[in-house]
Amino acid sequence: MVTRRSVLGGALAAAGAGLITTGALTPVLDAGSAQAAAPTDAAGAAGAVQPRPVAVPVPPPFSVRMPVLPVLTPVSTAGGQDTYAVTIKEVSREILPGGMAKVLTYDGCFPGPVLRARSGRKVVVRHRNTLSMPVAVHLHGGSVTQDNDGSPMDTFGPGTSRTYTYPNQQPGAPLWFHDHAHHMESEHVYRGLSASYLLSDDTERALPLPAGQYEIPIALRDAHFDAYGQLVYVMDDAFGRTTILANGRPSPYVEVAARKYRFRLLNSSNMRFFQLKLSDGGQMVQIGSDGGLLEHPFPTDTIGLSPAERADVVIDFSRYPVGTQIVLENTLGPGTPDQVGKVLRFDVVRTAADPSRVPDTLRTLPALAALPKPAVQRSIVLSMDEDGRQEPRGFMDGQAYDPDRIDQTVAHGTSEVWTVTNANKLVPHNFHMHLVQFRVLERNGAPAGPAEAGLKDTVRLFPGETVKLHATFASYRGTYVYHCHLLDHSAMGMMANFRVR
Ligand code: C2O
Ligand code: CU
Repeated sequence: MVTRRSVLGGALAAAGAGLITTGALTPVLDAGSAQAAAPTDAAGAAGAVQPRPVAVPVPPPFSVRMPVLPVLTPVSTAGGQDTYAVTIKEVSREILPGGMAKVLTYDGCFPGPVLRARSGRKVVVRHRNTLSMPVAVHLHGGSVTQDNDGSPMDTFGPGTSRTYTYPNQQPGAPLWFHDHAHHMESEHVYRGLSASYLLSDDTERALPLPAGQYEIPIALRDAHFDAYGQLVYVMDDAFGRTTILANGRPSPYVEVAARKYRFRLLNSSNMRFFQLKLSDGGQMVQIGSDGGLLEHPFPTDTIGLSPAERADVVIDFSRYPVGTQIVLENTLGPGTPDQVGKVLRFDVVRTAADPSRVPDTLRTLPALAALPKPAVQRSIVLSMDEDGRQEPRGFMDGQAYDPDRIDQTVAHGTSEVWTVTNANKLVPHNFHMHLVQFRVLERNGAPAGPAEAGLKDTVRLFPGETVKLHATFASYRGTYVYHCHLLDHSAMGMMANFRVR
């Protein structure tokens, strides 16, 4: 079996393990040294005169405006379903100002567009693959049949199309879709193949939350650029990816009115964990997570997001006078605070009426004690080589992913409790299951915090951490994967199959 080669080696796998302030781990590659590199390939191999590439530096923070992500329009709404046609293609887009970066896209959008769906109404998406590589499109957090899951081996090749059907028989949730082609998902997602899929339901629509232009999806990620503003993909490159992008632009500014906004945050990074706070320590109100709204909103001064996690957050800017600038900061490395500490800046530029409200009850969920009794309890251990070897391998229960091996067999209609542990000492992981949304019963033997009180499909696992998860497998039968969503790790083998039958 082919494995992805890691160029930097396992020592760097300690990605994200340290706080910025520890300073013990020195970046091996950073944007600064990349920019300092002289152009060496200005002339073509045959000696033909080529335009000299223009250096494109990472700009100072807040140089560019954050774009609003485009919303996909269906090609048809006939037959009780919304039908979309998406072309997967390589294009050039401006990420760093003055540069045109080659990116892989859904319909030319970097980052991907937003597909808005509603519970109970079917969505059909026909993807045409114009790349030179096979792809698979996975609806992350979606309850879908095996054929529509976009699992690692279920790819479609260059020049072909594939139609995915999403029944949307699940409560509203901020889902997203991204590439999942075996061993290529990590690089494909890094280069741009991810997009939001915001599923809403009647309960959510009835709430007086900020809406319209006051509800803003934001995809956060990191990236590593070369001196010419092109994305560099190196396996396990946690220390090189030190430019933070919000909706595809480096640490942008966002103009807001002095009123409440709802931000739909997605961490679409391959490996970066964010710990977000406002520069004035001001309050945010988290109202939702991966699997949709929480039962109750909770005020907080910090939001943590491991790769693939989502947070639905309301910020009330009415407490700031017009003219105030507030930075959304990130307090986690790798990378220095100068590189990765400033995610975006909110510029309060006007006043506006605000009829919106965050109700005390957003939805109802069963109490943890009232969840169905588990038929089976399992233990799952995540680990990877962290001894500095050249090609670290990733494992689930000591084994690398084998697409042909069924690792867990689950009886359809039953509930299970999975106790999942990160056995590493340095390397952070997280844990994602396809098909189901689960509840977090415990974290490190204690009740989980309010951010994890709702439905989840991805949970963070810092070194040595253990979570206890409750899932009910009552939707579809079939074979699905569970994996670490640090995609460089899943590409190294930290993935396994469960079969529901
Ligand atoms: Cu975001 Cu296997 O998934
Ligand atoms: Cu991992």
